[in-house]
Amino acid sequence: MAQTQRKILVTSALPYANGSIHLGHMLEHIQTDIWVRFQKMRGHLCTAVCADDAHGTAIMIKAAQNGITPEELIEGVRQEHMADFNDFLIGYDNYHSTHSDENREISSSIYKALRDNGKISVRSIKQAFDPEKEMFLADRFIKGTCPKCKAEEQYGDNCEVCSATYSPMEMINPRSVYSDATPIEKESEHYFFKLPDFQDFLAKWTRSGTLQDQVANKLAEWLDSGLQEWDISRDAPYFGFEIPDAPGKYFYVWLDAPIGYMASFQNLCDRTEGLNFDDYWAKDSDAELYHFIGKDIINFHALFWPAMLDCAGYRTPTKVNAHGYVTVDGKKMSKSRGTFIKARTYLNHLDPQYLRYYFAAKLNASVDDIDLNLQDFQQRVNSDVVGKVVNIASRTASFIGKKFDNKLSAEPIDTTVSLCIEAGDIIANHYEQREYGKAIREIMKLADLVNEYVAKEEPWKLVKYDATSQKAHEVCSIALNAFAVITTYLKPVMPHLVADAEAFLGKELTWDNRSELLFGQSVNTFKPLMGRIEQKQIDAMIEEGKLEAEAEAAAQEATQPKAAETELTKEPIEAEINFDDFAKVDLRVALIAKAEHVEKANKLLKLTLDLGGETRTVFSGIKSAYKPEDLEGKLTVMVANLAPRKMKFGLSEGMVLAAGPGGEDIYLLEPHSGAKPGQRVM
Ligand code: MSP
Ligand code: ZN
Repeated sequence: MAQTQRKILVTSALPYANGSIHLGHMLEHIQTDIWVRFQKMRGHLCTAVCADDAHGTAIMIKAAQNGITPEELIEGVRQEHMADFNDFLIGYDNYHSTHSDENREISSSIYKALRDNGKISVRSIKQAFDPEKEMFLADRFIKGTCPKCKAEEQYGDNCEVCSATYSPMEMINPRSVYSDATPIEKESEHYFFKLPDFQDFLAKWTRSGTLQDQVANKLAEWLDSGLQEWDISRDAPYFGFEIPDAPGKYFYVWLDAPIGYMASFQNLCDRTEGLNFDDYWAKDSDAELYHFIGKDIINFHALFWPAMLDCAGYRTPTKVNAHGYVTVDGKKMSKSRGTFIKARTYLNHLDPQYLRYYFAAKLNASVDDIDLNLQDFQQRVNSDVVGKVVNIASRTASFIGKKFDNKLSAEPIDTTVSLCIEAGDIIANHYEQREYGKAIREIMKLADLVNEYVAKEEPWKLVKYDATSQKAHEVCSIALNAFAVITTYLKPVMPHLVADAEAFLGKELTWDNRSELLFGQSVNTFKPLMGRIEQKQIDAMIEEGKLEAEAEAAAQEATQPKAAETELTKEPIEAEINFDDFAKVDLRVALIAKAEHVEKANKLLKLTLDLGGETRTVFSGIKSAYKPEDLEGKLTVMVANLAPRKMKFGLSEGMVLAAGPGGEDIYLLEPHSGAKPGQRVM
């Protein structure tokens, strides 16, 4: 068993610091984390680092919109991202930021090395420029009408309607998305990395087993058609690092982003005894370096990055592992369908280990997309994890507890457990190769085997005839030993479940000690390990996803008011609320079951409102406009989550919505006649 300890450094792509982590990102972090936990569990020295990718125009603009500095924005987002990963049981050894001293230093030194090796060129290029915001505009920040098919609202580089490609200045009526101003063309100096000089190096490197075949083939097409110089500078204003010898010029975000891997590791080394930066990054390093990334960022990791590293005197990655995209129910994640699910939204409703398991079951070493089919997710987790694995323990542990004082039998003659132990080498190999789906299938085969064994032996019957049946004792003890081995294999995927199993078994489960059996030993009292996924949890998650997307869209509108709209707002609005405040208002369709005069009240009517099963009393100042008898049987809209208010005439449990200047001109809001009492109104 004993093998030499490997030194392994693992990274996931650095999420942008201008948005929340969603389930698409989570695929990558789960894939990485399973691999890292597996390596650590096998006794290797494996270190995992990540960081937020904190530079670029998008972040600068977003901060400005929110009225904060970019530094404030990225620190807030970083805290949010770290909490999301932590709660998904993703265990990075360090989670840093590309906007850090370490990154500034390493980026500068790599740039200088490229320059001193003659791999940087400088020349003037013409670019679209927003004269109002005084900044250069990347193509996707320009909108206009397609010069070919005349489709409106197209981006500055290509038309989504007719697929024409063009430069932004060729568009009809091009506009800056930031200011609506018409961009002008302006010249400025840019810095380029001479990628074509690395043609031969890359042709070899991409074929040296560092990439998946699919990926290497794709890159071969690029390489064959010839590489272009890579524009690595951006003009001020830009949130990033200024280029050392070029004031007013900044590193393009993608120049310092992968260097962020090194920076995060450097930051960890600086506070970790025995961890040495050069051991991992020097050209002659014997450590292994793995990058887990999505298929959309392959060129940055498999062309620019190895060329930069090699040129600057560093080692190159052992492997770049690309994965596909997450789809939900067969479609691209969509905000309006509620399937653009944020990590936090998921966590509000479901155990992270369910998703870890599901993604593991579907992952392999290819770049194919992964579908999160919500029906299949629920069914698969419930039947595999709860129905198969947890079931082994829950159906046998109670006998060990009740009939045998939590002590397992002496070792019987049987092959069930040894079959489980033997499968460990194959399973380990699958994990190593990132064939998690295959590993999970093997593990479930073992669970099936053990369940069939227990079903055949029927210990529950045996104890009926003989309360302390030795056979029943042995069957349950075999099952629990097998359970120990099976959960060992699931530990990289479901660390909390397995920690609970370890607490029950009184043993730390590792790959190497899986053949140390528990026969003759005591276990602890069994506690239920994991419940099933309920449909209502999934429904609630999707519902929250939808509401969030709507709120976000509205907030987006709110931060970018169109000039015309602003002028229309005649009355000053006092006590501003933000959209989150507004989104908290629970508006419901209400049936006016009863409307009555209130004695001694000049303005109020007492309404009894039916919310589809729930009744509320509301006092409303609409007496001047409505007769009670005209209201009964009508539908209206009420604020259903207003704190009840004690009034002179009784408790008012909400508010109905009405508009108008007053007197006879008060109009109760009326939903369409098909609306159902209790229905939510948006
Ligand atoms: N900041 C860059 C990466 C720099 S790495 C030096 C970036 N950030 S990102 O936030 O857009 O994406 C981070 C990672 O998440 C990428 O690997 C990307 O492929 C992955 N994913 C983003 N959306 C995804 C899905 N819907 N599905 C799977 N992975 C997805 O790119
Ligand atoms: Zn077009």
